Amino acid sequence: MNFKENISLKNYNTFGISVHAKRFITVDSVYQLQQLLKVEKDIFLISGGSNMLLTKDIEKLVVHLDIKGISIDNEDENTVYLTVNAGENWHEFVLWCVAENYGGIENLSLIPGNVGTCPIQNIGAYGVEVKDTITKVEAIEIARGKLVQFSNENCNFGYRNSIFKNEVKGKYIITSVSFKLTKRNHILNSSYGAINTELTSKNITKPTLKDISDAVIAIRKSKLPDPKEIGNSGSFFKNPVIATTQFLELQKDYTNIPSYKISETEVKIPAGWLIEQAGFKGKRYGNYGIHEKQALVLVNYGNATGKEIYLLAKKIQQNILDKFGISLEIEVNIIQ
Ligand code: EPU
Repeated sequence: MNFKENISLKNYNTFGISVHAKRFITVDSVYQLQQLLKVEKDIFLISGGSNMLLTKDIEKLVVHLDIKGISIDNEDENTVYLTVNAGENWHEFVLWCVAENYGGIENLSLIPGNVGTCPIQNIGAYGVEVKDTITKVEAIEIARGKLVQFSNENCNFGYRNSIFKNEVKGKYIITSVSFKLTKRNHILNSSYGAINTELTSKNITKPTLKDISDAVIAIRKSKLPDPKEIGNSGSFFKNPVIATTQFLELQKDYTNIPSYKISETEVKIPAGWLIEQAGFKGKRYGNYGIHEKQALVLVNYGNATGKEIYLLAKKIQQNILDKFGISLEIEVNIIQ
């Protein structure tokens, strides 16, 4: 096995944080991973590196998961069943599906990261969550080195949440994800306001999968920074859910506060709005700051440390708590 030493992880995390791995290995097959786990169980896994903030050097062996491959398990005239290995790039997989006319994940275009991490936080955007297309997740149990399968139901999916962030956190390595996608009669989701506006501006009345994907790409590019240019990890916080009673109180002071009804007693508030109201949007502190077009995104302009960005996140959390009485939950994994 090809172990490397003292490797910079700057190119392995979308925040572009330059911490080092004492030891590092790239693994490109399930077999290789199982062999490795026989001798090393205390590992730090890195895949697309798109949902983590690294605040210090990694002492454990860093395992870069790079298992590639897509296979069609089954299909009929309406549906295709696919299994995709964990190391495939998410956006490239979405583009491939769009080109093949496989529907269901086109709204999730341009989300950074790899296929293997999409179930962990149940990635979602523009009215679609990946959980609605996942049929099963295959993973290696680190303790025994055995391959196990999680059905969709067993994944306990929720908003930016799954069993992999909770009960079994750190116990499994996801090696592949299986999807069920449509081949015709696609259920298009263009209800999200910005998608509608984008399609209307192009005079598109009967959108194809590609039209939706293109619209999402255009919207994301206009709001969210490209990690290749400005380091970031997408939404840094979750949108908080608060009691309707608290919301009605806040509405007295902030008449234009946006909200989405969750139930009779709860509403979700866009964290980006709260952060913007608190005056943070577009603020830059030397090497890091808050994105100018979407306040939910913290950015690294080049040489920021993970600690600096984490301290900024804490400052924002405190500010929002003081100003609105709302606790913002961090969505990105903080590695410290
Ligand atoms: N808003 C502001 N200021 C901002 C940002 C947002 O006032 O700086 C308000 C606006 O009123 C807007 C509302 O917040 O109408 C919602 O904003 P947006 O449509 O940009 O969505 P979001 O709730 O901020 C969520 C996801 C994004 C996803 C978008 C689109 C979370 C934590 N984030 O953001 O996901 O792309 O919806 O569906 O749920 C990610 O997870 O990395 C991510 C980018």
